[in-house]
Order: sequence, then structure tokens, then C-alpha cells
Amino acid sequence: MKNKIINNKIVVANWKMRLSLKESLILAKKMKNKFKNFKSGEVVICPNFLSLCHTKNIMENSSINLGSQNVFWEEKGSYTGEVSPGMLVEAGCEYAIIGHSERRKYILENYEMIHQKLKAVLNNGKLVPIVCIGENTEERKTDQRDFILTDQLYQALSGINIVGEQQIIIAYEPIWAIGSGITIEPAEAKYAHKIIKLTLNDIFGMQVVKDNFRIIYGGSINSRNVKGFVNIEDIDGLLVGGASLDEDEFYKVAKAILK
Ligand code: PGA
Repeated sequence: MKNKIINNKIVVANWKMRLSLKESLILAKKMKNKFKNFKSGEVVICPNFLSLCHTKNIMENSSINLGSQNVFWEEKGSYTGEVSPGMLVEAGCEYAIIGHSERRKYILENYEMIHQKLKAVLNNGKLVPIVCIGENTEERKTDQRDFILTDQLYQALSGINIVGEQQIIIAYEPIWAIGSGITIEPAEAKYAHKIIKLTLNDIFGMQVVKDNFRIIYGGSINSRNVKGFVNIEDIDGLLVGGASLDEDEFYKVAKAILK
């Protein structure tokens, strides 16, 4: 597990299923080169499963960390097609995204599964989980956002025991802002992060939240709108999809939020 760097800001690239193995490795090399003198905060890249080991090799002697886009809730067994926390660690991952809204939508992943996945990652102890939450368009329109966020957090986190310096990252990703080009107003993101922080305080107590949690934002972030998210209290970093597919664009986003 990474050392205690909870005060560091973090920027996470989610390449989704957007790149082939070959394309992933080309972009990984470009990223390594682009970030070679970059020392601030934490930069994480999440390629597809196939590309993890090769990307890890490319990232040797670089400050860029590796993360997975998904993880399963058991360590070993007859679970065709799944990949466990231990296997991801073996492949060189230090982070694992859990419960991305695209998995909730297409694979019907629910918060019971997300809870199991989080437990497995914490039991393994060598990965930092990035747990995704966020309301959809309808829920936002009907003023349910605060309830949805609180409910998702309770479902994912209730009964979770956080030991020592284990870090957990919560990614607030409003579904209506993901891949849509619609950007949230920074003030709205700030408000949602406050709700998340208060809910975490209720579940774990303020000290644990301060020591072990970070809350990051994701949804149509790019080099043009990132400035609005810099220096906002309770926004500890960003999860970036589309804008992470180009090394120059991603570098600009990282530089803005991490410097
Ligand atoms: P986007 O994706 O930046 O393309 O909206 C963010 C995400 O899905 O994590």
C-alpha cells in the first residue's frame, strides 16, 4: 500500500474501453514522456485489464501509478471472466475503480456488489479503492441528489472497517455529466462534495474521514473547464475520461489541479 499521502491531490485517467492494447501502450509511452519531470500530487492511469502488465513495464522509473477499471469481490475461485484484487496487485496496480456508473448501467452492478468489492479490496490491503457514486438526470431534476448520494454511500460503506492508514477515494461522478460534455458548475460540485463529506463524517467520524478519505470529482473535465475546480475545498482531485486520451490535454488537466 502507498504511504500516507492523503493530503496529496490526485488525478486519475480512466481510459475505459476506448483503446486497443496497441493504442494503450502507445499512449502509455507518450504519458510517461510527458510527465517525466512532473513531481506534484499523484497521477494514476487506468487502462483495460489486457494492457495493465505491459503498461506497468512501460511506467517503470516513472511517477505515474497504475489502476484498474474494475475488480471482483473474491480472491480466487470459479468466477469466469473476473479478476481479483490480488491479481491486480500482481499486475502492478495500486488503485482500483469500483462501481463506475457505466458498469452500473451496462453490467447492472449495484451497491451490494460495490460493497462486496470494496470489502475485498480492503481485505487485500494493497490497493486504494476509488468508489464511484453519483445521481442521474432524473434524480437531479427531481431534487433527489442529496438523498441518492447519501444512500449510495451508506450502501457501499456501512459496516466497513477501516484499519490504519488504508486510503479510500470517493469519486463523485454525476451521471448526466459523464461523457456528455455537460460540465457541472464548480459551486454545485462543491456542494455535492460537502454532502459526501458530511455523510462520511456520520458513518466514520471526522478524524477517520480526515485521515483516510479523499473525495474527487469526475464528469466532462478538460483543460478548459478544470480551472473552476482548482482550490475548491473538499475537491481532492479529478477522475478524467475523454480528456485523458491525449497526453497534452491530460497533462494540462493534471498540471492545473495538482500544482
Ligand atoms: P468523462 O468521463 O471525463 O469522459 O466525462 C469521466 C468518467 O467516466 O470517469
